[in-house]
Amino acid sequence: MASETLARDVAGSGARAAARSNQSAGSTARSLTFRIWRGDAAAGHFEDYHTQVSDGMVVLDAVHQIQSESANDLAVRWNCKAGKCGSCSAEINGMPRLMCMTRLNQLDHEKPITVEPMRAFPLMRDLVTDVSSNFRQKKNIRPFTPRPPDAPDGTWRMAQTDVDRVQEFRKCIECFLCQDVCHVLRDHHLHDEFVGPRLLVHAAQLEMHPLDVIDRTGDLKDKHNIGYCNITKCCTKVCPENITITDNAIIPLKERVADKHYDPLHMLLKLFHHKDPGSAES
Ligand code: SF4
Ligand code: SF4
Ligand code: FES
Repeated sequence: MASETLARDVAGSGARAAARSNQSAGSTARSLTFRIWRGDAAAGHFEDYHTQVSDGMVVLDAVHQIQSESANDLAVRWNCKAGKCGSCSAEINGMPRLMCMTRLNQLDHEKPITVEPMRAFPLMRDLVTDVSSNFRQKKNIRPFTPRPPDAPDGTWRMAQTDVDRVQEFRKCIECFLCQDVCHVLRDHHLHDEFVGPRLLVHAAQLEMHPLDVIDRTGDLKDKHNIGYCNITKCCTKVCPENITITDNAIIPLKERVADKHYDPLHMLLKLFHHKDPGSAES
């Protein structure tokens, strides 16, 4: 009974969202076929649905419409429909994308439009995957630790250029599309060993923060296995926030790791001082 009520709520919410979108979208209606993945971790298959679409609709609108018309129990995760919550990640025609930001007029209408869940994460049901490994891994990255305040009133002084450097990383909406496309996670399933591009962006945000005093390079090398990344740049290509993941986050982190742990001069200094001179760790 509870699941019937839930299905009715889900379908009602989807129908209202699709109707709102149709009102603002215009009226040139045509029928399209959507090939949507249905199933759970045990088994699944693609199923074809036909629905009327109109100008301006996005894939999420079509999925909501299908949910209200013919698949009341279709599971799909979404929240904002504005490209800001990172919930509606899926693979559309084989490409990792946000359903709410993918306009139908960007897609080929000659063949069915495929919509399937992200393949790098365990499937829960239909289009919904379990992305909790990302949140677990995030806890393993040592948190922001600022130096003591620079002034008696408890404030700090920072150069604007240093502040600007990390702003790009703060745009991340945790959609995990970059994790989905990374071959280390997607093909080799090394979720417990490699943190992946999203969390390397998070680590870069902390490492490059002008106030942070923690040295995470040892963790990046041994615990988060940054060395597994071979700079294919696939993650950068799919980021809906256009964060330059590889060039601005991963490569500078790799350089810091190399400087700290492989530079012969630095290693010699370490030997003499019995302690990494640049490290905040005791
Ligand atoms: S550049 Fe590195 S993190 Fe990004 S997809 Fe390629 S291997 Fe993964
Ligand atoms: S870095 Fe980009 S692709 Fe990766 S989770 Fe953040 S917003 Fe999504
Ligand atoms: S529904 Fe929030 S990003 Fe798509």
